[in-house]
Amino acid sequence: MRINKFLAECGVASRRQCDEMIKNGEVLVNGKPCGLGADVTDKDEVTVNGKHVHHEGKKEYYILNKPKGYVCTVSDDKGRKTVMDLLPSRAGRVFPVGRLDYDTEGLLILTSDGDLAFRLTHPKNEIPKTYIAKIEGGVSEAELDKVRGGVVIDGKRTGKCNARVVEQDKNFAKVSVTITEGRNRQVRKMFEAVGKQVVFLKRVKIGELTLRGLDRGACRPLSDEEIKYLKYL
Ligand code: URA
Repeated sequence: MRINKFLAECGVASRRQCDEMIKNGEVLVNGKPCGLGADVTDKDEVTVNGKHVHHEGKKEYYILNKPKGYVCTVSDDKGRKTVMDLLPSRAGRVFPVGRLDYDTEGLLILTSDGDLAFRLTHPKNEIPKTYIAKIEGGVSEAELDKVRGGVVIDGKRTGKCNARVVEQDKNFAKVSVTITEGRNRQVRKMFEAVGKQVVFLKRVKIGELTLRGLDRGACRPLSDEEIKYLKYL
């Protein structure tokens, strides 16, 4: 089996993240650094940063309602709270699927299934992710039309997306935005591109999977049906 798939199945990280670790020389096969094209079997001794990885065990899947003030990494070198602090103590070696910013709330999946993580985050799969964005000072239909049609952020145009106002008063608008990409701070930057500031952001859906019944900061295992749904999304 290709080394990145092997590592992903072991729950080390997504395949793409594993490729980076391989390139950085963090992965040894039978004591030697390996290349991206290396094939391994269960008989090979594989280590990541000196730790043995085992190709066995049942995969785990959690859904978390992330509060703001947590980083989406397994450990943070600045000592900030991470989403791992919100998992039940029985959780195994799971990792967050994609990222929500420190200040963004909402639906986050954590899993030890690197293949599912890869599937959900690869842009070619166009997995819809829905956010509620609170926009200071409101937003006009003309501005929303620009966001819908794609705006240039970090030198590249965003894809088409859905955006509609769900609540409005004289000080702010709440907009439901569904995007199929997952670029860095994408929703905030899309509104910045039309001169608007997002003052609150929450991911409320991945596909049709919602946060229903899950309080802020709470976490639960996904059901078998939900796991199956995400695998075929
Ligand atoms: N878009 C953002 O701006 N932030 C997130 O965390 C997710 C999407």
